[in-house]
Amino acid sequence: MAAAETVLVVGATGNIGVAAVKGALNSGRKVLAIVRNQASADKLVKHVGWPAAEGIAFVEANILSDTGVKGVVDQVRAGKLPAFQHVYSCVGGEYTMTPLTEITTTQLRYNMSASFEANFFAYRDTIPYLLSQSPTPTTWTICTGSQGDTALFPVPAMAQGALFSMCTAASRETAETNVRFNEVYLAFRVEVDEDALQHGVTTASEFAKVYQGILGRGDIKSSRLKVLGTEDIEALKFDKKF
Ligand SMILES: NC(=O)c1ccc[n+]([C@@H]2O[C@H](COP(=O)([O-])OP(=O)(O)OC[C@H]3O[C@@H](n4cnc5c(N)ncnc54)[C@H](OP(=O)(O)O)[C@@H]3O)[C@@H](O)[C@H]2O)c1
Repeated sequence: MAAAETVLVVGATGNIGVAAVKGALNSGRKVLAIVRNQASADKLVKHVGWPAAEGIAFVEANILSDTGVKGVVDQVRAGKLPAFQHVYSCVGGEYTMTPLTEITTTQLRYNMSASFEANFFAYRDTIPYLLSQSPTPTTWTICTGSQGDTALFPVPAMAQGALFSMCTAASRETAETNVRFNEVYLAFRVEVDEDALQHGVTTASEFAKVYQGILGRGDIKSSRLKVLGTEDIEALKFDKKF
């Protein structure tokens, strides 16, 4: 039997990251999770539970640094960490309504670093490794939010706007390659299960089905998946950009 594939998850310990990890594990794949420290690793294990968490390998790195993800890929190439064929990136900063005129420079820079730059570094520094596996099919997935259009929460919204452009460029640049790049455009709130149940929003366990769907559908490529309502979790809707 062929060895199970592995998904590298950047931002694995957050609401969307837990959904990505669950989707990967539910699809029979293994996970390589980049975490900032042991406390974050423990948090992910708690959300995923045993024995499912046995499918997760952990590596510590600073994903906000421009060498963090690159260092992980270098270790993979050196055979010190499991090889991966899929990437899910979902690093995020503050979810706050601070109006534009009250956003401090420090707050702006931190959030552009966490919500935009970290996802950009994840893309820039993993794509060459996935391309090097051609013709083996691989995937690269990111979660963006409709905040980028509604801007009710200006801080996260501005980073989403930058990610929208990055996703269009990535969809174009990978269109003729072995990498299926896709953007999941999410228009409602998803949280880790125990928070979601408290707040009456969608659970990461439910949202995990979107990623399972993407992994299983070779026809979804260079696309924006529109997850506008919970009915879109299983019946995937997508617009192919290129
Ligand atoms: N949740 C939603 O409903 C939703 C909807 C639409 C779009 N999105 C987008 O999806 C992305 C993720 O959202 P989320 O709700 O999953 O966010 P989240 O729960 O806050 O998770 C953010 C992730 O980034 C990591 N991270 C943040 N700052 C870090 C730092 N300084 N160093 C290392 N790691 C750091 C966190 O690690 P730790 O666990 O160690 O803090 C966590 O893994 C965002 O771009 C968001 O806009 C989310």
